Amino acid sequence: MTTTTAAEAPTRPSGPPRRYQMYVDGEWVDARSGETFESVDPFTGAVWAEIPRAGAADVDVAVRAARRAFDEGPWGRTTATERARMMRRLGDLIAERARDVAVVESIDNGKLLREMEGQLKGMPAWYEYFAGAADKLTGETLPSDKANFFIYTVRQPVGVVAAITPWNSPILLMTWKLAPALAAGCTFVVKPAEQAPVSTLEFAKLVDEAGFPPGVFNVVTGFGPDCGAPLAEHPGVDKVAFTGSSAVGSSVMAGAAKHLAHVSLELGGKSPNIVFADSDLEAAANGIVAGVFAATGQTCMAGSRLLVAEGAYDEVMERVADRASAVQMGDPLLADTEMGPVAFSEHRDKVESFIASAREDGARLLSGGGRPGAPELADGFFVEPTLFGEVTNDMTLARQEVFGPVAAAIRFADEEEALRLANDTEFGLAAGVWTRDVQRAHRMALGLRAGTVWINSYRAVGPMAPFGGFKASGLGRENGMETLSEYTELKTVWIELTGATRDPFSLG
Ligand code: NAI
Ligand code: MG
Repeated sequence: MTTTTAAEAPTRPSGPPRRYQMYVDGEWVDARSGETFESVDPFTGAVWAEIPRAGAADVDVAVRAARRAFDEGPWGRTTATERARMMRRLGDLIAERARDVAVVESIDNGKLLREMEGQLKGMPAWYEYFAGAADKLTGETLPSDKANFFIYTVRQPVGVVAAITPWNSPILLMTWKLAPALAAGCTFVVKPAEQAPVSTLEFAKLVDEAGFPPGVFNVVTGFGPDCGAPLAEHPGVDKVAFTGSSAVGSSVMAGAAKHLAHVSLELGGKSPNIVFADSDLEAAANGIVAGVFAATGQTCMAGSRLLVAEGAYDEVMERVADRASAVQMGDPLLADTEMGPVAFSEHRDKVESFIASAREDGARLLSGGGRPGAPELADGFFVEPTLFGEVTNDMTLARQEVFGPVAAAIRFADEEEALRLANDTEFGLAAGVWTRDVQRAHRMALGLRAGTVWINSYRAVGPMAPFGGFKASGLGRENGMETLSEYTELKTVWIELTGATRDPFSLG
């Protein structure tokens, strides 16, 4: 393991907050109202950037630009091969600038630089994968039931895509939408979360440099109700792709329903990480830590419900509690830090209220539960990695998404009970299963009502692997060839071959 010295770590910007503009129709602009808002560095608690506060009028300008680029601009006439070339160029620029963008993202949302840099370095793979798919979006020729007809289908871009993204992994979660949208030939307007909007603006510089025509990619920055809602509701938008909370996802869907836009939703979870007694308990304990304490637990796929077999419970609790209490909290920009702060002050309040509710409900605190005492962490929004044992599946901690470093451990007696508890949730995003029994692994994989199941692993994602939720965890899938159906319309063409006329009053 390499340890970064203070000299190698990037420095935080000093002086007055950096002033950013939005990227609309290929230009850098302020909000029409001239209003701005502040973004806070969650490690220092200080304002570090000032961002345009866009409202409905700005959204309208951006959607019109995207509409024009789609309907009239050169983008609509590009071939898939040309689009793929531009996408690869964008991927190369991301690879070159990965560290710079990661530093900005880390300062903005407090996630570890090593996680953000890892994400950015892995990100070109998404643009390469979907660049490769761009010229393989084929239709079919269909065997006709009528001798005088030739029938075929073509896949065409859905049109203007509106993306509304969260603060936890702004660029990666946007990429899951942008890469397939560009491959399909769509144009794009993104509204990043108000808590961490800066990296999306930095990313826009790369899109600009990659040579995409004006209007293909646009960023509007603002708050949910006054910028996100008008974007979802805008009649010029053909598809809304959202990642965030289930409550807002439902309201975004209602907004999109006003003009019958397509919708895909990637929402929250309460994902079970299930440990059987026959598993490699060291690997399982490590996977539990990776599932719920990595990224300070701020991930939709967090393995926040630990279902542990009676026979392994004590040992697993001990291993996880030991590791949790040894987690190195600190400056997210330093390479030996394992956990940074949560992303903003109100979010820490929310995480702490879940910890309080678990105590009240009688769960047993096995590790953490408070704020770290170190004076150098006092300005940051830190919460200790927290493990509760003796949780029951009806407690608030087992039902609701915490989105922080808090694990809830529940005992189970046998496989049947494990599966029943795992599926007894309104969510269904992901699940982990730890076992050496290959038959059990497959039985569990088939029985779990979740969009992704990891066997003897946790939190692996890739451009080729569809990701999304069952139940309240979402609608539609991101990644994989499957997601391209979310960004395309299928058109059917009937060609009459004989010139014969027919009875105008019958269908056929
Ligand atoms: P949120 O769902 O409010 O925010 C996500 C995005 O939606 C942001 O860009 C926000 O500005 C926008 N938004 C908010 N209200 C809107 C509205 N009425 N219309 C259109 N857009 C709107 O999530 P928030 O408040 O940041 O976090 C709350 C909880 O949501 C978290 O504690 C966590 O449980 C969950 N969450 C899940 C995420 C995931 O990856 N699935 C990501 C972020 C949050
Ligand atoms: Mg911030």
